Amino acid sequence: IPVDPFDLVIFGGTGDLARRKILPGLFRRFVAGQMPDDAQIIGAARGDMDDSEYRAMTEDAIREFGGRKVSDDAVARFLERVHFTTVDAMGDEGWAKLAEKLPPGRVRAFYFSVAPSLFGALAERLRHFGLADAASRIVVEKPFGHDLHSARALNRVLEEYFAEDEIYRIDHYLGKETVQNLMAVRFGNMLFEPLWNAQYVDHIQITVAETVGVGGRGSYYDKSGAMRDMVQNHIMQLLCLIAMEPPARFEPDAVRDEKLKVIRALDPVPAHHLVRGQYSGNGTHPSYCDDVEDPRSRTESFVALRAHVSNWRWAGTPFYIRTGKRLRARTSEIAVVFKDAPHSIFGADAGRHRNVLVIRLQPNEGMTLDVTIKEPGPGGMRLMDAPLDLTFADAMSPDADEVPDAYERLIMDVIRGNQTLFMRGDEVEAAWAWTDPLIDEWEARGDVPQPYDIGAAGPEDALMLMHRDGRKWREIR
Ligand code: BG6
Repeated sequence: IPVDPFDLVIFGGTGDLARRKILPGLFRRFVAGQMPDDAQIIGAARGDMDDSEYRAMTEDAIREFGGRKVSDDAVARFLERVHFTTVDAMGDEGWAKLAEKLPPGRVRAFYFSVAPSLFGALAERLRHFGLADAASRIVVEKPFGHDLHSARALNRVLEEYFAEDEIYRIDHYLGKETVQNLMAVRFGNMLFEPLWNAQYVDHIQITVAETVGVGGRGSYYDKSGAMRDMVQNHIMQLLCLIAMEPPARFEPDAVRDEKLKVIRALDPVPAHHLVRGQYSGNGTHPSYCDDVEDPRSRTESFVALRAHVSNWRWAGTPFYIRTGKRLRARTSEIAVVFKDAPHSIFGADAGRHRNVLVIRLQPNEGMTLDVTIKEPGPGGMRLMDAPLDLTFADAMSPDADEVPDAYERLIMDVIRGNQTLFMRGDEVEAAWAWTDPLIDEWEARGDVPQPYDIGAAGPEDALMLMHRDGRKWREIR
């Protein structure tokens, strides 16, 4: 279904995010028939460029990142909608010209794909030069602050010029197909929700493992680390969706109120429930410190921790979280590990078996549910686990080219004015309020992260974090 006619201005329109995600994502929505004929996409940046140069850049980006359905004809028709304008975020230049390009009475979205230090200047100029009207909205990206203090400051400056329902804070994990499916599975089925609590769930594991290092992004990453880069935002969002109470409706504030309650119910994490790691080099790849060019960096490229949501539903159920770079495989999953059946009628020989619901975010987005069955054959009543497997690519129509990218879905939600999959200001602040003390504490102690080998599952202590509790991480593969 096409969205309403819109104008989307991308500040930072020549930047990496625009090239990798925003422009190719818009192209794919165009190919899917979702973009009205007269939609306009306007790249804005400080440098000099004309429309045709920007179109050439956009075409390169689409050919590199646009997926499989890139036909010459589609590219040509898409590029007709693409324009460029030079704008100085900190000065007065270019704003009047940009204003002229925006017809009245249509949805206007301004994507701040720039450093957060420019958010205030952009917001102010959008108002000052009369570009923002009643149908305007702004889109902002992470990092949304560096800590609670800076996140608050960003919120305050944006709120000076825009109302909360005009501010779309992107966490691209919320746009992932499987993440949304998590809500469909939880709240669309009778099967899971009655068991979704401390009485039946032994523990939950959230793993976001990457094989890439931080090379190329070292200067950003070294000031951030895994806790700020992944846990405070993406993993926090996953945890919220797993742990939240059913919202009364699938509506922005109903969902976000429930997520906020989860964040506020998180206990502080004691130091012995937290492990930080940093990858060492091997013959092929440099170490973390070589990647960031600070031989003594104490920033973590891996973090594992045990969290507790202190409420009636989850009292006593640990949430084990781990994320890191240069690990064994690229895999992101949430595993809900159910408790043992209360009594085994099959005796000790049958072994120990548990139901595990695994929600795979990537690769091969899908879900599996391990169920216990009889081992086939005449060998008596021996049990085994077998997965009920639902791979989304198989379940969807055969020409569903690829599962839609998170960005393309989220950008269309901005145009539709649907904030359900965007973070509210208070959520972001509450998440920082939880991570800040952990970071402050290790910084005050001068903690050095533990080294781990490239291709491992993190440092030894991360394994111990679960072993101590008589539990085991799932394999990263
Ligand atoms: C980004 C982080 O937000 O998410 C990166 O800054 C990380 O460090 C990336 O690699 C992971 O996203 P995805 O979609 O590839 O899992």
